[in-house]
Amino acid sequence: MRISIYIAVSANGLISNFRNVPDWLSPEYGQGFMEICQKTKAVIMGKTTYNILAPDYLPLQKEGTIVVLTTDEQAKSDNPTVVFTKSNAPEIAKMLAGKGHDEAVIIGGTMTMSEFINADLVDDIYFVMEPVLFGSGLPLLKNVELEFKLKLLEVTKLNNNSVQLHYEIQKQS
Ligand SMILES: NC(=O)c1ccc[n+]([C@@H]2O[C@H](COP(=O)([O-])OP(=O)(O)OC[C@H]3O[C@@H](n4cnc5c(N)ncnc54)[C@H](OP(=O)(O)O)[C@@H]3O)[C@@H](O)[C@H]2O)c1
Repeated sequence: MRISIYIAVSANGLISNFRNVPDWLSPEYGQGFMEICQKTKAVIMGKTTYNILAPDYLPLQKEGTIVVLTTDEQAKSDNPTVVFTKSNAPEIAKMLAGKGHDEAVIIGGTMTMSEFINADLVDDIYFVMEPVLFGSGLPLLKNVELEFKLKLLEVTKLNNNSVQLHYEIQKQS
């Protein structure tokens, strides 16, 4: 199971601004987001991110699997592709493999990315760096003590001001 992260960041590495309003994201980020979700057919997100996207902006509305981490056992969705779970990262990877998926993408937020990074289950990360600086906001990761080296795979200029950096995580042996 190959698990990627696809995430927009400010130039100083934050994933949301203090206002928590996503008015800084480029159309190219949105396009790349949809494309990677369509490619992997399996998307992982936290309940906070799900609450922002659902119902209109959810990817994979008709096919594939959307895994939403939540402790809310009453959570329900009208979308048949959504699976709510309080399983941990290795259990989620196993569940997706059992459904026939061999790749998946995590689209946020901080808590969910940190959970999978801590479990050493992320293979590569796409950072879409947007042309903004935030004095405060949400960091990419929280409560992660591991350190990883990254190998740059590709740099793509998305428009006049935004770049996409694709890094592979160097696995610790
Ligand atoms: N820049 C970007 O590309 C991007 C993309 C997505 C999101 N974001 C930002 O990220 C913010 C959300 O990040 P976040 O860290 O607050 O939230 P998150 O990871 O989206 O969701 C956190 C929620 O997921 C559930 N959860 C997480 N780990 C769990 C576990 N191990 N077991 C059970 N449930 C678990 C919990 O939901 P319950 O409380 O229901 O149990 C938790 O409150 C958004 O507000 C948005 O601003 C940015």
